[in-house]
Order: sequence, then C-alpha cells, then structure tokens
Amino acid sequence: MDTGFTVAQLRAAAADAVRAPSLHNTQPWRFRLRDGGIELSVDPTRRLPATDPSGWGARISCGAALFNLRLALAVAGTPATVRLRPYPTEPDVLARLVPDAPRPATPADRSLHAAIPRRFSNRAPFWPDPVPADARWRLGEAARAEQCWLELVIGTSAVNAFAEVARSAHRVLERDPDYRRERTEWIRREPAPDGVPAAAGGPQSEPQDLLPMRGFGGRNRAPGRDFEPEPLVAVLGSAGNTPADQILAGQALQRVLLTATDAGLSVSLLSQPIEVQGAREALRLSLGRFGTPQMVMRIGYGQPGAATPRRSVDDVLDLPVVSA
Ligand SMILES: Cc1cc2nc3c(=O)[nH]c(=O)nc-3n(C[C@H](O)[C@H](O)[C@H](O)COP(=O)(O)O)c2cc1C
Repeated sequence: MDTGFTVAQLRAAAADAVRAPSLHNTQPWRFRLRDGGIELSVDPTRRLPATDPSGWGARISCGAALFNLRLALAVAGTPATVRLRPYPTEPDVLARLVPDAPRPATPADRSLHAAIPRRFSNRAPFWPDPVPADARWRLGEAARAEQCWLELVIGTSAVNAFAEVARSAHRVLERDPDYRRERTEWIRREPAPDGVPAAAGGPQSEPQDLLPMRGFGGRNRAPGRDFEPEPLVAVLGSAGNTPADQILAGQALQRVLLTATDAGLSVSLLSQPIEVQGAREALRLSLGRFGTPQMVMRIGYGQPGAATPRRSVDDVLDLPVVSA
C-alpha cells in the first residue's frame, strides 16, 4: 500500500490511545504523522524522575497507549504493522505504525475496542466472589497474545508471601521524600485533565490491609468495607527487560485490562514491587519464572466507577503547521 495514514485517522486513533492507563495519570505520550506513518513518542517533559528514574513506567504507559492505537486502527478497517523503536538515534520514538492491507476487524477486536472507555483503575474493595476459571484463562491468553506471560498467585500462603514483598517495597518507597512529593503533586482535588483525582484514589489504607495501596488521598473507609480477604493477584511479565520488552509489556497490560473489562471484571494496579529492584527479584524467584515481572494487578468484581480525565487529543498531537 503506497498511501499512508491521514491526519483524520491519526486523530481518531489517538482519541482511543489517550484512554490508556499511565503512572500517576501523567499521560507521557505524543503522536505524530511522519512519511505516512503514525509515530508514538514518550514525552520527556512528563517523566517522573523520583518514581520512575529508568523510564520503565513511561514505556509501560506508552505501550498501553500503543495497544489502543493498534486496536482503533484495526476496528476502523485500517490495521497497522508496528515497528518498535524504529530509529536508533531517536530512542524517544517508541513505535512507528504503517498501514497494512485493509481488512475487516475481528469480533474479538471489536469487543476489546468497546471496552476502552469502560476501563478504569478500581482501587475500592472488590466483592469476595471468585474470578471464574474461564475468565482467568482468557486473561492469560491475552498476555500470551502480546508475547508476555501472566502468572496468577494462587493460595493463601503464596498471596501472603507476595503481600509481604509488596508491603516491604511500599515501605522502601515511602521513605523517599522525593517519591512522596511527586505522588502528592499528581493528586488532583479540583477538576484537571491529568493526575489522579482524589475521588478515584480508593479508600485510605488501614493496618489490617493485606496489600499496600499507593495513597492517592482517597476517602476514609466506610465501617465494614474492608478489602476482599483473598484477592486475585496476577503478575504480568516479559521475556527480557529492554525498553522494547517494556513496550511489549505495556501492550500486553492493556490487552489484559481490556479483556478483564470485557469479562465484567475490575482491576487495580500495584507497581511498588516492580519499582524496587530487590522486591522485583524476590517476586521473580517466588514465581519460579524466567523473564521479568513488569506489573502486578488485583482483579475481581468491583463496584461501578468512572473513567478518569485525559488531556485533549490536540494537546498530544504534533502536527505540521500549515501556512495560510
Ligand atoms: C506503569 C504504571 C504503574 C502504575 N502503578 C500504580 C500503583 O502502584 N497503584 C495504583 O493505584 N495505580 C497505579 N497505576 C494506575 C494509574 O494510576 C492509572 O492508570 C492512572 O491514574 C489513570 O487512571 P485510570 O487507570 O483509571 O484510567 C499505574 C499505572 C501504570 C501505567
């Protein structure tokens, strides 16, 4: 195919891409057209130096946006071929998408695409109902479809051991004043196009909590509304840990999240044990897996909730200036 993507196609796909999750809702992405291809870059002005010094979180976030971009183009009948990190001298360009042969979208693509606006991080307690086996299987398949793995932490002692690792990582992070300041700076108590709205922050932690929730200034907990006693914890991992592996993991994360949404499940993310190197290694060893853990999820049946705000598409597009 010799024609490239148009501005209208870029704009429509970017509107879905920006719905992706991102660390502290920083939305660290930019999109542009170059030589007929859509390019996704990480936005260096939106990095979190204390929380994410290596750029792992920004690449996971951009990978998730890339999955939405691919899905939007596929559902529009104009699927793309993707090259990750296409220019060695421009490492901030994470992906380049060029048109593939037009074809109708699959029903599976349509279902996942329809889940994009319904997905949100649900930090509230879930109902105690177990996640059925077929849904667990679908989540694992979603990760595998994107060249990653999903390991479910099964059984009380395994969940307790994971929780211990996660709590100790949380304590390590909380000792760093720059980390605490950065998190506080991204909590929003007034309407804003980015950052984590305090209303979406989940309830305040309490001493009896098994899993450490990153505090986003949430409300006090109603009496008796503790977290589910046996959370379903899932660890997403990739074969390696290069920047390209992290972009792959971001795409896998979004496929898993949309598959969960499509199955009526809620998810919250828990990345403290990924951000602390020792905890990440302990987690990898406890799973007995090769490769690298890239994200932890708590999955279950949650109360309804709402999507959080995003910047407008115009704020994240780099379009050539057309002179009059
Ligand atoms: C790399 C990454 C790490 C994250 N870590 C956490 C976390 O530790 N705790 C948490 O509550 N949310 C975490 N999140 C979720 C983001 O805060 C959330 O995606 C963002 O605020 C946007 O909200 P939404 O998911 O409801 O769209 C993480 C998201 C990403 C992409």
